[in-house]
Amino acid sequence: MNQEPQTEAKTTPADRSQRQFNFSAGPAVLPEETLLEAKDELPVFDNAGASVMEISHRSAAYDKVEESAREHIKSLLDIGDDWHVLFLQGGASMQFYQAPLNFLTEGGSADYVITGRWGTKAIREARLVGDVNVAASTEEDDFAYVPDPADWDLNPDADYVYITTNETVNGNQITQDPVLDAPIVADASSEFLSRPMDLEGYGLVFAGAQKNVGPAGVTIVLVHDDFLEQKKDELPTMLDYGTHVRKRFNTPPVFPIYMVEKVTRWLLNMGGLDAIHAINKRKATLLYDRIAQSDFYYCTVDEGSRSMMNVTFRLNDPDLEDLFLKQAEQRGLMSLAGHRTVGGVRASIYNAMPVEGVEALVDFMDTFERTHG
Ligand SMILES: Cc1ncc(COP(=O)(O)O)c(C=O)c1O
Repeated sequence: MNQEPQTEAKTTPADRSQRQFNFSAGPAVLPEETLLEAKDELPVFDNAGASVMEISHRSAAYDKVEESAREHIKSLLDIGDDWHVLFLQGGASMQFYQAPLNFLTEGGSADYVITGRWGTKAIREARLVGDVNVAASTEEDDFAYVPDPADWDLNPDADYVYITTNETVNGNQITQDPVLDAPIVADASSEFLSRPMDLEGYGLVFAGAQKNVGPAGVTIVLVHDDFLEQKKDELPTMLDYGTHVRKRFNTPPVFPIYMVEKVTRWLLNMGGLDAIHAINKRKATLLYDRIAQSDFYYCTVDEGSRSMMNVTFRLNDPDLEDLFLKQAEQRGLMSLAGHRTVGGVRASIYNAMPVEGVEALVDFMDTFERTHG
């Protein structure tokens, strides 16, 4: 093949102006500056002579990246060395099985609080391991609210209580961190690092990075020392949390972790979780207030349980929803369709979605209602 050598980079500054407001539920919007930084560092990372994807995961340069990502997460959540921060693979979905495999004992049982699609998937995996008790479920009400912890039917001797702090598909969120008799195992995938968390009642928290913290490919797992003591023995090596607490057992997903390091640094520079939480509340309020302004739009989740991250809503005339989504796309507001299992509209407004993105959506909602209301 006789190809002309390419001397010019294909990306030009003009490409940046083509970035749209991305409301995708995940993989999701990342802070633009972290992308540009990565782009600059791509051919040669930290004088290592190659990109971060090409150097050994045992090298000093990579060590620094992973340690720094870990320290950022600990510092953001204000947690000490009694918590271990792991970077695992297999997605949050792997945790649905790995958590019970490690902590659901023979003869014991675990309590599950089911507030949406992801909790439903998690309990299915837990049943493959052992006994589970549905402590609460809002399935019959289309997951339109989060039940009050006072009403959860809990077993005080449970190995753990499983919750999904933010249900990405259904648009509800548990915002008060519960403290219960049993340690909590939480799927925090779609709200991780969007607010300060009080981890007092938790034993294990996991989050797929691809919503709020980085690209797909790494799952962040926090596990507490005391909870680890309850862990079963003789587990398959890769599925045993102990393996990863003890050492970097195998090749980690280096590039996603490298991006997590950047996104968490961006968060620290923004002022940490209190600061981002205030911005997230402002964005969510803007949108929920707009939905409530008329009966052209309506919310699918009850007040008090609404997610700050995934705002799910419908148009009163369902026949207009396709047009709404199509015109939104034409206005540079991308990926607003609700999950295929529920339909409607879902605006995922994670940390990296700027306030201007939400303002642009509200503005479009005004125009659309004026034209079609
Ligand atoms: C709350 C929640 N849990 C779990 C998952 C599954 O994550 P993964 O695709 O990383 O397995 C998702 C994905 O959207 C999610 O939103």
